[in-house]
Amino acid sequence: MTVTNKVALVTGAGQGIGRGIALRLAQDGFDIAVADLAVQAEKAAGVITEIEALGRAAVFVSVDVSQRDDVFAAVDAAAQRLGGFDVIVNNAGIAQVTPLSEITEDELDSIFRINVNSVIWGIQAAVAKFDELGRPGKIINAASIASIQGFPILGAYSASKFAVRGITQVAAQELAPKNITVNAYAPGIVGTGMWDLIDEKLSVINGKPRGQNLKENVDGIALGRIETPEDVAKVVSFFAGPDSDYVTGQVLLVDGGMLYN
Ligand SMILES: NC(=O)c1ccc[n+]([C@@H]2O[C@H](COP(=O)([O-])OP(=O)(O)OC[C@H]3O[C@@H](n4cnc5c(N)ncnc54)[C@H](O)[C@@H]3O)[C@@H](O)[C@H]2O)c1
Repeated sequence: MTVTNKVALVTGAGQGIGRGIALRLAQDGFDIAVADLAVQAEKAAGVITEIEALGRAAVFVSVDVSQRDDVFAAVDAAAQRLGGFDVIVNNAGIAQVTPLSEITEDELDSIFRINVNSVIWGIQAAVAKFDELGRPGKIINAASIASIQGFPILGAYSASKFAVRGITQVAAQELAPKNITVNAYAPGIVGTGMWDLIDEKLSVINGKPRGQNLKENVDGIALGRIETPEDVAKVVSFFAGPDSDYVTGQVLLVDGGMLYN
């Protein structure tokens, strides 16, 4: 799929899945706003260099996705600096590895602000920009296998991703009259910093050696290998491009065969 002179903003693009998505959309022909926390500026600069090597323009926009004003400012900056706005990928997110009985109010607030509120702010900011520019657009959200099935010890995370699935379905219906599509990708076990953290925390809880929890989860994947950011990015490429013009409100599992729905 190739596009010309289109702009996509990807949150959490400094590393992991977000970086993979940013690079894939650049290959597809998008100019890219690499949006991430200010502390990720150095990593984001590396991603920008990789995008520029692909012949596309890229800028870093500093954003804390849990802050509504920040997200609006990031979308404005991307549109102004790259000369348009067509796609937002609400990818940034965090995991927490805590049994439900032990989650604190602060932890719950934090994961919902970063994983759920952020998606609504991203939708609002993107729609405002699409309206201002007088064009349709595409909104793509990060769900998870944990948006389809609840995973023990990842209770708040699962709840936050179930919420993303609900938001995706509602936004798709509300925004269809504007010809805006809203979809989500649901990865399985991707080898990123997030799984380093989950594996480390699980080993403290269940006493298994480091790496064992990750290995056991990967052993359960039908296609027999851990997922890469590039695997996820292929699905996002589809949602960002014209081949998905008649697809909206969907959460697509991209998990190598873990869940079946
Ligand atoms: N890794 C997996 O196995 C997996 C599986 C399913 C879904 N996901 C989802 O994919 C998305 C990306 O995950 P990842 O594995 O690449 O994680 P990661 O931890 O490697 O990267 C997350 C990125 O988001 C950024 N970020 C975190 N909080 C932010 C905030 N408040 N504002 C702006 N940026 C922020 C981080 O700086 C980082 O660059 C997340 O939504 C995650 O829930 C990951």
